[in-house]
Amino acid sequence: MPEGPSKTAEYVATFRAVESARPEGERLFSDPYAASFLDGKLRLGAALARNGMGQRLVCRYIDRNWPGSRPSAVIRTRLIDDAVTAAIEGGAEQLAILGAGYDTRGLRLPAAREIPVFELDQPPTQERKKQRLRARDGDLPSNVTYVPFDLLDEGVGAPLERAGFRTGLKSVYIWEGVLSYLTPEAVDQTLAWITASGAPGSRLVYTYVDVALLKQGGEDEPPWSSQVAKVGEPFRYGLDPAKMDAFLGDRGLKPVWDQSTLEAIAQHAVPGGRNAPGFYRVAEAEVLPDR
Ligand SMILES: C[S@@+](CC[C@H](N)C(=O)[O-])C[C@H]1O[C@@H](n2cnc3c(N)ncnc32)[C@H](O)[C@@H]1O
Repeated sequence: MPEGPSKTAEYVATFRAVESARPEGERLFSDPYAASFLDGKLRLGAALARNGMGQRLVCRYIDRNWPGSRPSAVIRTRLIDDAVTAAIEGGAEQLAILGAGYDTRGLRLPAAREIPVFELDQPPTQERKKQRLRARDGDLPSNVTYVPFDLLDEGVGAPLERAGFRTGLKSVYIWEGVLSYLTPEAVDQTLAWITASGAPGSRLVYTYVDVALLKQGGEDEPPWSSQVAKVGEPFRYGLDPAKMDAFLGDRGLKPVWDQSTLEAIAQHAVPGGRNAPGFYRVAEAEVLPDR
């Protein structure tokens, strides 16, 4: 567990800042807050990416050092933006973002701005996020409640409910780029809370690594594993996409869709996307009535 703010969260914010710098009509989304969370080289890279030549150089540099991670983060951001918007338009009355990092959907998605949003993360990352937002806008968004909490601790529900998250409402939950850092117990305990707290039809949008990646190890290990381990946030949990229906069914959920970022990129124009990995997946599940 890192002592300070999450570095992987800052990397994801970098990829979002770089994508947001592409011209309107070409970029897959705009996150005008992302650059505010960056320091040092990452901040410089995002600034350089604001013109065409700089954008190409910065993407080439990132993609050489982190093959496939930038286009994967870009496509997952877009898929999750769309899924969350659809869930809210479909009646979800509150949004919980678990391991929120520098996710700014509570501010930037018009549908999410209209409902209560609860962001849960470890205190150092959440404090840094709040400082940067205050420095940028003078204030924090009024619809977002920040809940400092570690998902590895017992009882994720209690702190969220104390903060005002209402059980029994149709809700939408985001769990993006987080599962890989948890234990099987923490994953099960969080899913149990989701199915207990959300009304039937509530949606969970999540990402995960195919467990086959974790088993590879050694020389075959894809570059991401060593990169995230280097910043103190090693991958330690994965799921098998072929067994996802049973995994979810046992936990009171049913799959809605599930695809690798590589498959998703084939449907959208993401520069550099051909290098995206097949092992990184984005998915959505629904809370069942009889759970
Ligand atoms: C790769 S970042 C993803 C951040 C954000 N969801 C996004 O996609 O932009 C991983 C996030 O998970 C959070 N995280 C990791 N382990 C956690 C835990 N045990 N409890 C709460 N948050 C955790 C980190 O602090 C970090 O913000």
